[in-house]
Amino acid sequence: MSRKALIAANWKMYKTPAEAQAFADAFLPLVARHTRDEIALFPSPVLLPTVVAACKGSNVAAGAQNIHFAEEGAYTGETSIGQLKAVGGTHALIGHSERRQYFAETDEIVNRKLHTALKHGIVPVVCIGEVLAEREAGKTAGVLKTQINGAFSGIAPDAAAPIVIAYEPVWAIGTGRTATPEIAEDAQGLIRAEVATLLGPKVAAAMRILYGGSVKPDNIAKLMAEQDIDGALVGGASLKVDSFTAIVHY
Ligand code: PGA
Repeated sequence: MSRKALIAANWKMYKTPAEAQAFADAFLPLVARHTRDEIALFPSPVLLPTVVAACKGSNVAAGAQNIHFAEEGAYTGETSIGQLKAVGGTHALIGHSERRQYFAETDEIVNRKLHTALKHGIVPVVCIGEVLAEREAGKTAGVLKTQINGAFSGIAPDAAAPIVIAYEPVWAIGTGRTATPEIAEDAQGLIRAEVATLLGPKVAAAMRILYGGSVKPDNIAKLMAEQDIDGALVGGASLKVDSFTAIVHY
């Protein structure tokens, strides 16, 4: 089963609109003929209109780092799916570990957001991953299974095609401590097996599972060589045109 890889930039809480524009102006021509992989940028919500306009007609998509599960309402500080769609965003990260860690996002919230994204035709990138203490205690497999089962509760196999998973071991995020390709592949294979149990082998074989956590130009190729790694979610190294372009062109 051939899966088109997705190389995604998570800009977190960085960049001004002018910096986002400058990135797009420099980056888009460098990847304009790149058809091997899909490419997506995930900026802060205030940058989205700038990024969407810059990427219009290009091969680069834009999405949100977070969405609320409600269609609208009194949720100060949040972004609705309708707002994301209205500015032209097509993708959304859901359940990034920083959302789980600092904003108390639970598997149940992740599940509600996933339902909302699928209902509205937004490509969801569901982030999962264990923290260091869990890995050291030998709990990685259990944690990943719990996160997948929680996130996918009530999702029908025939609705699951758009879903992308990002496996991001929390101990590898922003630490420079990338998972070895073997460690990553171990987890990614386990994730695919769990998706197969839940949604069937066909859905699992087609689902893209990205790796994230200190992906850099010098480690991307080895990671992408693993059979269950279908792309990358890149934080720090996505902020500079040079390094993100090198990652796309691995
Ligand atoms: P990093 O971040 O590449 O800086 O480790 C990855 C992420 O948080 O998605």
